[in-house]
Amino acid sequence: MLSGKTVLVGITGGIAAYKICELIRMYKRANAQVLVVCTPNALNFVTKLTLQNLSKNNVAVDEFEVKDFNPEHISYADRADIMVIAPATANTISKIASGVCDNLLTSIACAFTKPIIIAPAMNCNMWENPVIQENLNKLHCEILEPESGYLACGYEGKGRLCSLDKIFDKTVEILKYKPLNGKKIVITSGGTIEDIDPVRYISNYSSGKMGLALADTAKNFGADVTLITTKDVSRTYNVIKVKSALDMKSTVEKEFDNADCIIMAAAVADYRVKEISSRKMKKTEDDEITLTLVKNPDILKDLCGRKKNSKPLIIGFCAESENLIENAKEKISKKGCDYLIANDISRTDIGFGSDYNEVTILDKNGGMKKLERADKKTIARKIFEEIYG
Ligand code: CTP
Repeated sequence: MLSGKTVLVGITGGIAAYKICELIRMYKRANAQVLVVCTPNALNFVTKLTLQNLSKNNVAVDEFEVKDFNPEHISYADRADIMVIAPATANTISKIASGVCDNLLTSIACAFTKPIIIAPAMNCNMWENPVIQENLNKLHCEILEPESGYLACGYEGKGRLCSLDKIFDKTVEILKYKPLNGKKIVITSGGTIEDIDPVRYISNYSSGKMGLALADTAKNFGADVTLITTKDVSRTYNVIKVKSALDMKSTVEKEFDNADCIIMAAAVADYRVKEISSRKMKKTEDDEITLTLVKNPDILKDLCGRKKNSKPLIIGFCAESENLIENAKEKISKKGCDYLIANDISRTDIGFGSDYNEVTILDKNGGMKKLERADKKTIARKIFEEIYG
């Protein structure tokens, strides 16, 4: 199954490290070349000799044990098709999220531009610590969440390494399944920011998470990705930061001719302030002030109007707080896009700001497909599978 592929297994210092011996055997049985890198603490749980025997390769631990001309972290990052960090401790997750490169494993992760799978395992209270959750959210990796059960520390809760089958299947899925190979995908995300004066603006609650999940997934599926976003995002693919709707429009338009697919996941402000004050507006004696707003261009509609033949495929999003499907049907025909992904923003358990979503995909021919509530990465994967699968 994995012939010709190189899997770099990264092991950190947690009790579940012993299970990774079996994972290495699974990769070997599938004909993968396996490279192993351990943090120094991992070797308290599993020996170098065992890992060397199973992987049939040297096991790397020390950054400064130079064997050839190439800097080791870069050479490993170049040689592997995927990096699988399992078990990933809270410590290593936090270091990778912060760009700390204090050992060979974290240095490789920092230099790694191909897909990374992270399978955390830790005490349940550590897993639930908001700092760890925040750090996990920063990572542009495939996170395989721990399972619940009896933990080695004596607690019961969420923290056990997920099953080895799950890690193995995800590795195969990422390495084999490349439905977007060779495609140039442009995605917008985040809420646009419309200035009022140098210190104030009009915006919306869009977190940019859905667009980011789509961009990360497209990258994993082999696409050449450009993310145009109003948020601070750091990724190995092309990210262009924009602010206002007008900025976003001119930036997307520059990408139009080369794009195979454009996904407008951004929440674009429908109106902007007519005259942006160059100085901070002062309070007046009046109890009311009036801001005049002018309509922003409808980027999605304009892009659809520019389309010649069938390229690019254009996908819109539709945020509704009532009559979701009815409004979505009207919107897809008004805008002229190929697909419209409709989500209900009145629900607090999905959509704006949440890590979860539940959407209905509408196509221009009247077809409809509902994707049940799931985390935004899963929703992103299913959207691409529906459209390109
Ligand atoms: N959109 C856009 N330009 C705008 C407004 C919206 O390109 N000025 C895009 C969004 O990125 C999204 C789709 O149009 O893909 C639908 O956005 P939505 O906010 O749901 O609809 P609107 O067209 O703004 O209509 P309304 O606010 O009346 O629901």
